[in-house]
Amino acid sequence: MSKRLQNKVALITGGASGIGAAHVRLFAEAGAKVLVCDIQDEMGRGVVEQVNRDGGEAAYFRLDVSKEDNWRTAVAEAVRRFGGLTTLVNNAGIYHAGEVDTETNEGWNRMVAINQTAVWWGMKIAMPELLKSGNAAIINISSMYGMVGSPGSIAYHATKGAVRIMSRSAAIQYARRGVRVNTIFPGVIKTPILGDVPDHMMKQLEEGIPMGRRGNPEDIAYASLFLCSDEAQYVTGAEMVVDGGSTAI
Ligand SMILES: NC(=O)c1ccc[n+]([C@@H]2O[C@H](COP(=O)([O-])OP(=O)(O)OC[C@H]3O[C@@H](n4cnc5c(N)ncnc54)[C@H](O)[C@@H]3O)[C@@H](O)[C@H]2O)c1
Repeated sequence: MSKRLQNKVALITGGASGIGAAHVRLFAEAGAKVLVCDIQDEMGRGVVEQVNRDGGEAAYFRLDVSKEDNWRTAVAEAVRRFGGLTTLVNNAGIYHAGEVDTETNEGWNRMVAINQTAVWWGMKIAMPELLKSGNAAIINISSMYGMVGSPGSIAYHATKGAVRIMSRSAAIQYARRGVRVNTIFPGVIKTPILGDVPDHMMKQLEEGIPMGRRGNPEDIAYASLFLCSDEAQYVTGAEMVVDGGSTAI
C-alpha cells in the first residue's frame, strides 16, 4: 500500500478492540504514527506490539475518555512522543439496551459521558495541536443508530445523534482553519460491542441488512483512511454511511 498517511500522527480512542484496533493497524500500515488509547491495557499493548513487529510505529497510552484530565495527558503524550498531532479518531464507545421507561439515570449518564461528552472533550483538548499542524482531520464514529431509530437503546440513539450534529457544527467552525471534521456511521459490524446476541437473533438481524451480512471492522477503517488522508482535502462535514445498505431502505 502507498503511504497515504505519511507524516501523520493519529490518536485513536478505543484502539484496543474492534473498529479502533482495525484503525490502528491500517493507519500504521499507511505510514501514520499512532497513539493507541483505551482502558483495556493488555489488549491495547497487544495491538501495539503487533503493529511494531510489522514495521509500523505505535504506542499505547491509557485514556479513559470520560475523564477530562486523561485527555490532557494523552494529547501531551502524542506530542511528546511523536512531535505533534494531526489526526484524531473519536471511536471509543459503549452500548446497552434500554427503553424510554426502563433506562436509568446512571445508565443514561454513563452513555452520555463516554459516547458524547468525550467526543467534545477530544475535539476540544486536541484542537490546539490540530490547529498548529495546519492540515488536520477528525473522525467521529457515530452509528447508523445516530440516523435512524430502533427499539434497542434510547441513550445510545441520543448520544450517536449528538455526535452527528456536533461533527457538522465543528466542521463549519474550523473549515477555514485547517481542521476537517467528518463522521462515519457504521452499520452492524463484527466486534465485541454486540455482546452476546444469540445466534438466532443475529441471523434475523443479518437478514434485515440489504447485503445480508455484518460488516468487518476494516470496512470502517478504510473509510476513515480516506477521510484522514490528503486525498480528502475538500471533504469536511461529510457523513459516510458504511452499513451494507441498511439505512438505504
Ligand atoms: N460494532 C458495531 O456494530 C457498531 C455499529 C455502529 C457504531 N459502532 C461504534 O463503533 C465504535 C467502536 O466500537 P466497536 O464496535 O469496535 O466495539 P468494541 O467494544 O470492540 O470497542 C470499543 C472500545 O472502546 C473502549 N472503551 C469503552 N469505554 C471507554 C472509555 N471510557 N475510555 C476509553 N475507551 C473506552 C473499549 O475498551 C473498547 O476497546 C463505538 O463508538 C461504537 O458505538 C459500532
